[in-house]
Amino acid sequence: MSYTEKLYNLVQNKFKRIPLANVQTFGCVQNENDSEKIRGVLAQSGYEISDNFEDSDIVIFNTCAIRENAELKIFGNIGKLKALKADKPDMIVAVCGCMVMQPHIVAKIKKSYPFVDIVFGVNSIEELPYIVYNWYIDNKRAVSDPVVKTDIVEDIPVYRQSKSKATISIMYGCDNFCSYCIVPYVRGRERSREPENILKEFKQLVADGYKDITLLGQNVDSYGKNLSPQIDFADLLSMLCKVEGDYVLHFMSSHPKDITRKVIDTIRDNPKISRQIHLPVQSGSNRILKLMNRRYTVEQYKDIISYAKQQIPDVGFSSDIIVGFPGETYDEYLETENLVKELNFTQLFTFIYSKRNGTKAAEMEDYVPHSEKAERLNRLIKIQQDIFFKYLESFNGKTVCALVEEEKTGGYTARMANTLVVHFKTDKTSLMDSFVNLKITGKKGTVLTAELLNK
Ligand code: SAH
Ligand code: SF4
Ligand code: F3S
Repeated sequence: MSYTEKLYNLVQNKFKRIPLANVQTFGCVQNENDSEKIRGVLAQSGYEISDNFEDSDIVIFNTCAIRENAELKIFGNIGKLKALKADKPDMIVAVCGCMVMQPHIVAKIKKSYPFVDIVFGVNSIEELPYIVYNWYIDNKRAVSDPVVKTDIVEDIPVYRQSKSKATISIMYGCDNFCSYCIVPYVRGRERSREPENILKEFKQLVADGYKDITLLGQNVDSYGKNLSPQIDFADLLSMLCKVEGDYVLHFMSSHPKDITRKVIDTIRDNPKISRQIHLPVQSGSNRILKLMNRRYTVEQYKDIISYAKQQIPDVGFSSDIIVGFPGETYDEYLETENLVKELNFTQLFTFIYSKRNGTKAAEMEDYVPHSEKAERLNRLIKIQQDIFFKYLESFNGKTVCALVEEEKTGGYTARMANTLVVHFKTDKTSLMDSFVNLKITGKKGTVLTAELLNK
């Protein structure tokens, strides 16, 4: 008997009702994709998935280590469970994900959070039934450093809450070692899934009616490096786009050093691929990019953007920026500011550099005061806000296609392939999870308003 079945039988007998499981995501889309697998494994083991942690029999925190404030927030949330656990000793509290791949974090949980019962690693999701089963059997705390595993486990059940939007991991880990980043340390070496397995999952999603599908990897452009027969990311995109159906294909993230003209040409030639590309630039200064170990220059970055704009007139780029990298001078920050003004990103995710123990940048001298970094961040946010409002205004009067995501009183909220959100009013019902054609009439805050056109 598998541990999934054993756990299923055990919880049926123990609770005499359907037990509830609550899984909370604190990280990126990759992290949420893992949460969907954790929910899938628990659902298969007899749990009902709940949004409410107070009533749940198992609460799992799927954590992130990307910046210090992410970790502080997670510890705050774990701390809130102390009283609940005292009332409900049978409730399991588990912590998994990137943050617990760091030994100093596991040591802290072990010592200061005695009510945490289980810690498991990013690549141990399929072992969860075994881990939980054993906890019920011997009631022993399972808090130790997770084993770093590098194999790819296929066919883990996935529990998707949305009926129209889905993500597929096409690869795991990262080999880039950008000097500020913890991901390669916590997620291990880069490995790609076999294209047949991705295709199978993709076809199933399309057959199930999913309309917005995102391929995930820390650097999708290096997909396929160690696979044979040889395949690259552009080939994978072409292969998937041959699947017939009504959907938009997205991917993230691309890396400026690896995105090729072939990828751009493939997007140009396949209308099913979103015209919105996330291409994190991180900084507008070549000296800082070098210290970050990003392995491209600002000029190379601009080259690929201008090639894309020339090939795909309606392409849009979003980006990530880190301000206050160790030693970033004011002038170097200004180079970033100028690049942002020049490139008109459709969306910008801006972060203050956060020191991560164990990374190269953690050893670099960092003399810029935090207040100065915060000021740089606020200036960038303001600049981008103006760019964004102009971008929103550029849609006025245009006809767009969007996927309906949420019902609102007297109407719906929909999302365009470029991720912009649109509100529209209608008395029509049953538009959820379908594509609609809309005419943009204006904007309200950061959201577009529209009227529904007949299909
Ligand atoms: N693999 C993806 C993104 C990973 S993390 C990529 O390379 O694009 C998402 C973003 O978090 C990064 O692009 C970067 O801007 C930011 N980030 C990563 N480490 C950080 C750190 N130590 N401090 C601040 N921001 C960081
Ligand atoms: Fe981190 Fe760089 Fe890898 Fe992205 S590419 S996950 S920023 S090391
Ligand atoms: Fe994602 Fe955070 Fe891990 S950004 S890969 S969950 S460190």
